[in-house]
Amino acid sequence: MTAALGAWYRGQARVMPWRISPRDWAAGMRPDPYRVWLSEVMLQQTTVAAVRGYFLRFTESWPDVCALARAPEADVMAAWAGLGYYARARNLRACAARVAEEHAGRFPDTEDGLRALPGIGPYTAAAIAAIAFDRRAVVVDGNVERVVARLFAHEEPLPRARPALRALADRLTPAQGAGQHAQAMMDLGATICTPRGPRCEICPLAGGCAARARGIAAELPRKAPK
Ligand code: ADE
Repeated sequence: MTAALGAWYRGQARVMPWRISPRDWAAGMRPDPYRVWLSEVMLQQTTVAAVRGYFLRFTESWPDVCALARAPEADVMAAWAGLGYYARARNLRACAARVAEEHAGRFPDTEDGLRALPGIGPYTAAAIAAIAFDRRAVVVDGNVERVVARLFAHEEPLPRARPALRALADRLTPAQGAGQHAQAMMDLGATICTPRGPRCEICPLAGGCAARARGIAAELPRKAPK
């Protein structure tokens, strides 16, 4: 299952300015934790397409965490304008200052260490730990919930299904390469295992997908009536 996903990701990974390509990753390159952190905070409530330009402008202006920590708050807020959820921008600068002053400019490399920082919740801590530090962290966003609900034909509705879906995502997470795995799951959810009209014909996991076997992929995950 995860081997098929890995093979697909090596061929189909979306290119993003904060990522290392699967080929470079296999050659031993690792992403810059600062860039991973910045991208994950920007992606918290914003789409990849909208984040791309902001990310490039931020990293151009502030290439590392110490540069961002020294930036005047007004400059950071101005660069953030349009992304919304402005508490994220204030936390961003506060987090950069903490990393610069209390961690000598290096991000903590564990989920617990990351969670102690401003603006980093459980999801973001898991994503940074896995993607930047190769930790075995379980990264579950809406895309991953949908992929997992379909793979296991988990029919329990959201939000009640969340703990069970997390446990299933945990089972799929490899000991090595959890960050690549997480990004592969996100890309699969964004491009193939989409909310409506999933493209099961070209899905690398179709052979092992219980919802596909039952013809209910497009119906999952179910949602409890509001
Ligand atoms: N959304 C949040 N983090 C992401 C990532 N690393 N790749 C793609 N989409 C994301």
